[in-house]
Amino acid sequence: MPSAHTSHCLPDAHARKGVHQLTLRLGDTAPDFTADSTTGPIAFHEYLGDGWGILFSHPRDFTPVCTTELGYVARLKPEFDKRHVKAVGLSIDPVESHKGWAKDIQETQGHAPNFPIVADPDRKVANLYGMMHPAHDEVFTVRTVFVVDPKKKIRLMITYPQTTGRNFDEILRVIDSLQLTDAHRVATPVNWKQGEDVIIVPAVTDEEAKAKFPGGWKTLKPYLRLTPQPK
Ligand code: BEZ
Repeated sequence: MPSAHTSHCLPDAHARKGVHQLTLRLGDTAPDFTADSTTGPIAFHEYLGDGWGILFSHPRDFTPVCTTELGYVARLKPEFDKRHVKAVGLSIDPVESHKGWAKDIQETQGHAPNFPIVADPDRKVANLYGMMHPAHDEVFTVRTVFVVDPKKKIRLMITYPQTTGRNFDEILRVIDSLQLTDAHRVATPVNWKQGEDVIIVPAVTDEEAKAKFPGGWKTLKPYLRLTPQPK
């Protein structure tokens, strides 16, 4: 398997000057790619199939923060499975290095990665997704998270500095919100969690709301109506 091949031909990250990374935005199609990974060659869109995905980058292998993150994502697998989400990690080191690191992750975190970790030594996927932030680090990726829906649209993008471990519970929380608000005409308020009241979107009239939200609602302002989370 060759190293990462992308459908957009971008120059190597080392030839930094003149590199044009795609500027991805919410609603864009997540760029497809094929690459080596710890579970064998991966074609990103095909791998996600009809479900959701998260793609998240790690600066490099055998680094302490990433070790804790990968163990935690492995521990969360049942939660991702419940939501039909496949996790895909990415680090710039080769597959053999990823595999060696997995043993340390198992030993120190109690969980070895149970999802593919892409090997991206030439930064093709990293450049495709804007994971290289040269003013922050010339060589290694920052920590990004992309949530991709079943239509392969990007629904969430978060970028963290290298020295801050991500909050994957927050990623799950956003996925819960996205899946709920795709299914019902609601939005989720600040710090919302599963089971808590949600907001009826302003475009729904009170008349329509009577049929859609039989449990009723509380009007704090005409534009702020709270209702129990729809099932
Ligand atoms: C880490 O994953 O631990 C890490 C990576 C790059 C810089 C600092 C920390």
